[in-house]
Amino acid sequence: MTSYKELGLVNTKDMFAKAVKGGYAIPAYNFNNMEQLQAIIQACVETRSPVILQVSAGARKYANKNLLRNMARGAVEYAHELGADIPIVLHLDHGDSYELCVDCIENGFSSVMIDGSHLPFDENAALTKRVCDYAHKAKDYVTVEGELGVLAGVEDDVSAEESHYTKPEEVQEFVKRTGVDSLAISIGTSHGRQKFKPSQCTRNADGILIPPPLAFDVLEEVEKKLPGFPIVLHGSSSVPIEYVKQIEKYGGKLTDSVGIPEDQLRRAAKSAVCKINIDSDGRLAMTAAIRKTLAEHPDEFDPRKYLGPARDELKKLYSHKNKEVLGSAGRA
Ligand code: G3H
Ligand code: 13P
Ligand code: ZN
Repeated sequence: MTSYKELGLVNTKDMFAKAVKGGYAIPAYNFNNMEQLQAIIQACVETRSPVILQVSAGARKYANKNLLRNMARGAVEYAHELGADIPIVLHLDHGDSYELCVDCIENGFSSVMIDGSHLPFDENAALTKRVCDYAHKAKDYVTVEGELGVLAGVEDDVSAEESHYTKPEEVQEFVKRTGVDSLAISIGTSHGRQKFKPSQCTRNADGILIPPPLAFDVLEEVEKKLPGFPIVLHGSSSVPIEYVKQIEKYGGKLTDSVGIPEDQLRRAAKSAVCKINIDSDGRLAMTAAIRKTLAEHPDEFDPRKYLGPARDELKKLYSHKNKEVLGSAGRA
């Protein structure tokens, strides 16, 4: 058993309280490998932003749980070496079972998500409560994120054709029954690079897809029911058109890509939304940079020569998000 405090990590309690009060959101960036982790730490140290390092069940299988625990420890030391003591959380993204949450807590995670959003309300609440009971009694209090409402797209093994907005009339009962520390809600975001079907969008003069707006009325209703309670948004990548174009220029094919416009994320970050999940944008940034490098240098075969520029691009993207979208820069 390794408690997260031994790794130099913190849970989300204090971080979220400050974010809700300060009207900004904490970035939750997914990672699977060293370059992604380096980019996250570099960007968050440079912008003095608190950060949530997010690991999906798939990422844990890919990277290995022992390596991950030590990478998190290394991330804390790396931040110190770069000259800043920013608060760092290690969070399980879309935990799909009680057992997985327990295993993560025993291996240094300071926060877990139990995603019962595909279950009927009572089953979701019972599963989430079981995880909260364990996490809150751990050696050091581990925070838990639950989810109500269903996002379209793929969440690891869970996939849904359509999104179902969170029902504001259910949120108080869910929080009361479970003891959850934060709540992910569905207001029209979704996972991946195709957040809406073309038929749900309009097109601008250049043929670029313009998505429908998020359901801010649902968010406002939730805020009224749970004043000051930390709300989480998943599926919040913007899918920058420049990356999509660069990937396609160098041989990729990413038809009908569409994300959440930055102005809507900025608006959400100023509300009770205090954690914004971003994975796809990082994948796009790295892929765009790798494709460009390899196309321009076809004789290159040293991974550092294409992963290095990809890491730099990722860092640039995350610094931009912290400073210009989430408002987390300078809050560490
Ligand atoms: O919400 C899902 C995240 O983007 C993680 O994706 O399961 O492919 O690691 P993954
Ligand atoms: P994106 O696919 O929009 O980056 O969402 C990531 C996410 O919600 C991780 O849980
Ligand atoms: Zn998610």
